[in-house]
Amino acid sequence: MEAKTVKVRVPGTSANLGPGFDTLGIACSCYNELELTLFRDDRLEIEIYGEGAEKIPKTSRNIVWRSIQRVLRRVGCDDEYKGARIVMNNQVPLSRGLGSSATAIVGGIKAANEALGNPLKNRDLLKIATDIEGHPDNVAPAIFGGMTISTVRNGWPETFRFIPKLRFRMVVVVPDFFLPTKAAREVLPDKVDRADAILNIGSTAMMIAAFIKGSRRFLRNAFDDALHQPYRAELIPGMYDVFEAARRERALGAFLSGAGPCLMALANGNEVKVAEAMQQVLKNNHVESTYMILDIDKQGACVIE
Ligand code: HSE
Repeated sequence: MEAKTVKVRVPGTSANLGPGFDTLGIACSCYNELELTLFRDDRLEIEIYGEGAEKIPKTSRNIVWRSIQRVLRRVGCDDEYKGARIVMNNQVPLSRGLGSSATAIVGGIKAANEALGNPLKNRDLLKIATDIEGHPDNVAPAIFGGMTISTVRNGWPETFRFIPKLRFRMVVVVPDFFLPTKAAREVLPDKVDRADAILNIGSTAMMIAAFIKGSRRFLRNAFDDALHQPYRAELIPGMYDVFEAARRERALGAFLSGAGPCLMALANGNEVKVAEAMQQVLKNNHVESTYMILDIDKQGACVIE
């Protein structure tokens, strides 16, 4: 007998928010949907629609399936369910810095947990998802929604989740090229300078204080980062000029979304102008792009049917 079919929705996410490298994240109103039916036999049927449909593997290498298997093993059901039918409907652009791999991982484990009658708590899902992804900054907001601060100690992730008191929308400019996270991490140095570390600690702390208190003026230096964006700038033509263009249109701040190549600005009221200004700078640097204007997703991964 098959298990019941479940359907989940998972938000795309943006990690880092500038200075909070591998730590901060935010969930966005751009979603991937996933339908799962567990099979007792070892049939694996995978259908993919939308973003990445041509590129994502439909074999046992599929990350959604591998995440489902982690849950099955964790709860001791891997002998009971050996196959699945998975239908993915994707809105989140693939390999662009909007957490597409986190949505796949979280979608898989959330759907598997639901199909098995919810033996695992969100805290367990966070641990499994972090183990698979390698860092918690995208999977945490994908699970919990809102803005998140995440730490990992001895392999155990912990997340503080909150909704910022400042009003803004997220302007996401999507360049027309892929940038695998692995490549964007390879340009980073292993060791950092103390002054750079101090700058990031200050910016990150200031950003959280500003968002929790609702004080826009404390955001002035809060997007400054010395740990990853300066090194990644060489991979994204005109990156700092794009940030500057967003600021000129009165964006609260701008940064590389996750490991890029998407560039994000937080804006309140002039989103289209900010987006067009950012796109123009990219165009001047011979990069074509599209843009999306997104809100914070407050719900995180949820069952929709
Ligand atoms: N924090 C990660 C990075 C996000 O910047 O490399 C990408 O998944």
